[in-house]
Amino acid sequence: MSLHVAIAGATGVVGAEFLRLLEERAFPVASLRLMASARSAGRRLAFRGTEIEVEDLAEASFEGVDVAFFSAGSAQKAHARRAAEAGTLVVDNSSAFRMDPDVPLVVPQVNGDRARDHKGIIANPNCSTILLVMAIAPIERQVPIRRIVVSTYQAVSGSGAAALAELEQQAADEREGRPLTPSVYPMPIHGNVIPFVQAFDADAITTEEWKMVKETQRILERPELAVSATCVRVPVRRAHSEAVNLELERAVTPDEARTWLDAAPGVTVVDDPAAMRFPTPRDADGGDDVLVGRIRRDPGRPEALDLWLTGDQIRKGAALNAVEIAEHLFEVPAR
Ligand SMILES: NC(=O)c1ccc[n+]([C@@H]2O[C@H](COP(=O)([O-])OP(=O)(O)OC[C@H]3O[C@@H](n4cnc5c(N)ncnc54)[C@H](OP(=O)(O)O)[C@@H]3O)[C@@H](O)[C@H]2O)c1
Repeated sequence: MSLHVAIAGATGVVGAEFLRLLEERAFPVASLRLMASARSAGRRLAFRGTEIEVEDLAEASFEGVDVAFFSAGSAQKAHARRAAEAGTLVVDNSSAFRMDPDVPLVVPQVNGDRARDHKGIIANPNCSTILLVMAIAPIERQVPIRRIVVSTYQAVSGSGAAALAELEQQAADEREGRPLTPSVYPMPIHGNVIPFVQAFDADAITTEEWKMVKETQRILERPELAVSATCVRVPVRRAHSEAVNLELERAVTPDEARTWLDAAPGVTVVDDPAAMRFPTPRDADGGDDVLVGRIRRDPGRPEALDLWLTGDQIRKGAALNAVEIAEHLFEVPAR
């Protein structure tokens, strides 16, 4: 089996990762089409020793394309629908379809079989949510979770290529004594921590925080699960981290949790405090697994555990998860 593949948003941060993953993995690419905005049409991007010309997504036809990886933002929703109507399986990275009951929201290691319910479009969850459910589903499978309290430490590349450039520009500006000019973020991100991702609602909860609440409930099929999230942007280039407090139906020892997480595909436990071993974003950068450590009892609550996780949000939080969904559906061997 060989597949005709398209990447919509190929010139972006996630698009570049799709290109890398399709080169690295055994994904059977018969042909590859690259699409982005009209601004990028005509640019050429390297793939497996050749160069492919970028097409304007608005003009591109999806006839004959088996699978299209979309990472062009929610505003391109109509093109994702157009591709699905042409018979292409769309895996979309934006938030456009994530809460649509007709569109499965899938993390293959957690609810992979839901992918088969698709009607042409499958949604890739929010990056922080994917990393969270990868680390908590192996525990939830053993002992139901009662409540999740999570704080994120989100890398700037989560906001795309412009945000990475902004961090670098501000670092240079500070070195040269120039004023820092925020553009992507409401205040300087260099040398700072911003407890705000995207937009506030009337209750001062952010869009990103709601995504973590609603998408976690949907993926775990626990619509009533109590989830409280605080989403924070930090001046890290790549890989999101999260501090998680899990209240469970019964007391679980850190050793039990380590055993369940050790056995979970896509998760690596890095947890040896005596040897100063715990995962940091630099460890996760460029890797496939979600790294989990600092697993410990919550001293104030016998039925709760604290843990720390970090994962490459451009890989497992976006492009890798989408490729794994396609591998799962088309029964492609993972490597
Ligand atoms: N970065 C992450 O860690 C991450 C994680 C999970 C999900 N996502 C989601 O993935 C999507 C892409 O994110 P990104 O970080 O890769 O952003 P990015 O670096 O800013 O790239 C955006 C991509 O979308 C294309 N695009 C923008 N406007 C377009 C239009 N009108 N028509 C066609 N293509 C258009 C851009 O093409 P041009 O270069 O031509 O402008 C570029 O290829 C977003 O929905 C984002 O929420 C990102």
